[in-house]
Amino acid sequence: MPATKIYLDTYGCQMNLYDGELVTSLLDADGFIMTHDEASADVILINTCAVRGHAEQRALGRLRTLAAQKRTRRELVVGVLGCMAENLRENLRDQIPGLDFVVGPDAYRQLPNLIQEQLNGHSGTFHYVHGAPNETYSEVPPLRREGVNAWVAIMRGCDNFCSYCIVPYVRGRERSRSPQEIISEVETAVAQGFPEVTLLGQNVNSYTWPDLDFPDLLGRVAEIKGLKRLQFITSHPKDLSDKLINRMASGGVLGASLHLPAQSGSDRILKAMNRGYTSADYLRIVDKLREAIPGLALTTDLLCGFPGETQEDLCQTLDLIRQARFDDAFTFKYSERPGTAAAKLEDDVPEKVKVERLERMIDLCRQLSHESRQKLVGRKVEVLIENPSPKNSAEWTGRTRCDRVAIVPGNFHRGESVTIKVAEVRGFSLWGNRI
Ligand code: 5AD
Ligand code: SF4
Repeated sequence: MPATKIYLDTYGCQMNLYDGELVTSLLDADGFIMTHDEASADVILINTCAVRGHAEQRALGRLRTLAAQKRTRRELVVGVLGCMAENLRENLRDQIPGLDFVVGPDAYRQLPNLIQEQLNGHSGTFHYVHGAPNETYSEVPPLRREGVNAWVAIMRGCDNFCSYCIVPYVRGRERSRSPQEIISEVETAVAQGFPEVTLLGQNVNSYTWPDLDFPDLLGRVAEIKGLKRLQFITSHPKDLSDKLINRMASGGVLGASLHLPAQSGSDRILKAMNRGYTSADYLRIVDKLREAIPGLALTTDLLCGFPGETQEDLCQTLDLIRQARFDDAFTFKYSERPGTAAAKLEDDVPEKVKVERLERMIDLCRQLSHESRQKLVGRKVEVLIENPSPKNSAEWTGRTRCDRVAIVPGNFHRGESVTIKVAEVRGFSLWGNRI
């Protein structure tokens, strides 16, 4: 019998993409063949996100189309993975008749068996599989596509319970992986030819291991031979220590970028969000960071339209944006997630107002982001080369230490480190010749 071909599509954040690599590894180890051709696949897996209603609606639409295909592709197996799988569980059976299984983020070790069962003719029996609460996928080496950056999870789950957020409910309690395991995974990635590693966790700053905190871990990983750049996401302001700032300031392979979600600039809203800091606390951290790390690119997440948010609250967020001078920002409209603490509050900001506020945040952030790139014109920056430019075969693209995309004329190889002088800003990228 020919080997079973599996098509996997992943939505959502970096952690979910990383999980996709774990799934690929688990299936590959069991003899399944991963394919990029959806039409010829025997099994289609959709790895979903649940962070906003919109993400779920998109995934549901996709799944409805796939389930409908089963009328003509009778042997096709369709499974749902990821955060939406864990969020909607058995409800998905009713919403998408024809689905074969639903598997949450901590249950992927069971996937090969589940798929095999379906292929053996048990199709038609729906399964929801709940994961092991302490799962960290020990000894599962992520199977990555080629590239420059390798993701390495240092922890799973989340204990913060920001009132708007579904993640703690779908990804379970926070658990750190052992430093040995993390270091060995980074060493493997470097040996495989990935010069950059991004350490992942819902809140990397609360990484904990006996006698070792996150800055210590960063120090250990930074010493790994052959590693050219080390990044990490996501940091929570309430847990970001001076020790981390000092560690980042030591430079070396540590990139000069930090993603530090602020969410709001209104203390009243931050409290209702259960964020554990005030806007003044946040700005104090920003001051320390900017002083300690010259050239730091500070990025953030901002959320407008949280229940009870007024124009005044929004103005305070715009003030925070101006004062923090974010180099880039991801901006979102609040989306009620059933089951979260905030879902008990009335979602009282009308959609039209949410859109208006979102646009105000976007406009301001765009302007700051443009200014931040312009400031680099004339500067010498180090670029880690990634790919030939899709637009011009005589140029390559890469990313600076502050994680900006840069375009460099010439011929390079992936993973090469070059210094360029920034001549101009082209769209969202820097452009400059090697010096
Ligand atoms: N609605 C809108 N945005 C959300 N985020 C998290 N939960 C929600 C929600 N319910 C945003 C936050 C977070 C980012 C990953 O997604 O800004 O930092
Ligand atoms: Fe990532 Fe959160 Fe979406 Fe899950 S719900 S994929 S953790 S962003």
